[in-house]
Amino acid sequence: MTTKPTYIILLGPPASGKGTQATKLREALDLPHVASGDLFRYNLKNETALGLKAKQYMDRGELVPDDVTIAMVLDRLAQPDCAGGALLDGFPRTIAQAEALDAALARQGLNIDRVLNILVPDEELIARITGRRLCRTCGEPYHMMFKKPKVSGICDLDGGELYQRADDTEETARNRLEVYWKQTSPLIAYYREAGALVDVDGNQPIAAVTQALMAAVSDLKTIE
Ligand code: AP5
Repeated sequence: MTTKPTYIILLGPPASGKGTQATKLREALDLPHVASGDLFRYNLKNETALGLKAKQYMDRGELVPDDVTIAMVLDRLAQPDCAGGALLDGFPRTIAQAEALDAALARQGLNIDRVLNILVPDEELIARITGRRLCRTCGEPYHMMFKKPKVSGICDLDGGELYQRADDTEETARNRLEVYWKQTSPLIAYYREAGALVDVDGNQPIAAVTQALMAAVSDLKTIE
């Protein structure tokens, strides 16, 4: 008896709550959280060639080119801690990325188990983006109105300093949403057709969204 690796994708527009929910799901499901945006920001912080290349796209709210992004994420998925699968956040974001991921998994006899499509109206997303703050140390997301830290400017979890992402201005946020609708939303039909998609209402309190997401994956991670 072996445990089949489990691959779950958190799909949704910018600020729909993918990162917020991933911190809860990864513990419940015991899966590593693989977030393409976090991988880019890690490279940027360390001033790698990849990070510097990604920065010019991220600052404008555009997508980083597929070849660079696919290579980075597939490399991350090949690391030993992903042997049991992964909780993907922010990847794939184009049909080309989804096809590359499907092909890489198919080569190992694997597939995407579930795609959680988090639905939130655009105007709510703009408010979430502009009020977001993140912990510089652990990346935990907060919000000035909807999820305040206990002490202003300080992370509840590890005391790290909270900061605002450079791409969280209203202007860039609007462009990120436009990019989402043009380039990423076609993935909804792609995964619905594959029978993997579940719609989840993301426009409700954080705990209620977590509950709905957990219900949508409650049948996964079984022993085969
Ligand atoms: P990335 O880092 O992936 O950003 P994103 O998709 O725009 O998503 P966010 O991180 O903005 O939002 P989230 O859904 O995680 O929301 P969060 O939980 O923080 O990508 C950044 C850039 O990198 C891209 O623009 C692109 O340039 C590049 N990139 C990344 N991946 C790529 C790829 N695959 N291909 C090409 N380029 C790529 O929540 C947001 C806020 O709302 C928080 O403040 C939170 O506290 C609050 N909140 C969350 N849930 C709720 C709720 N239910 N009610 C009220 N408030 C809530």
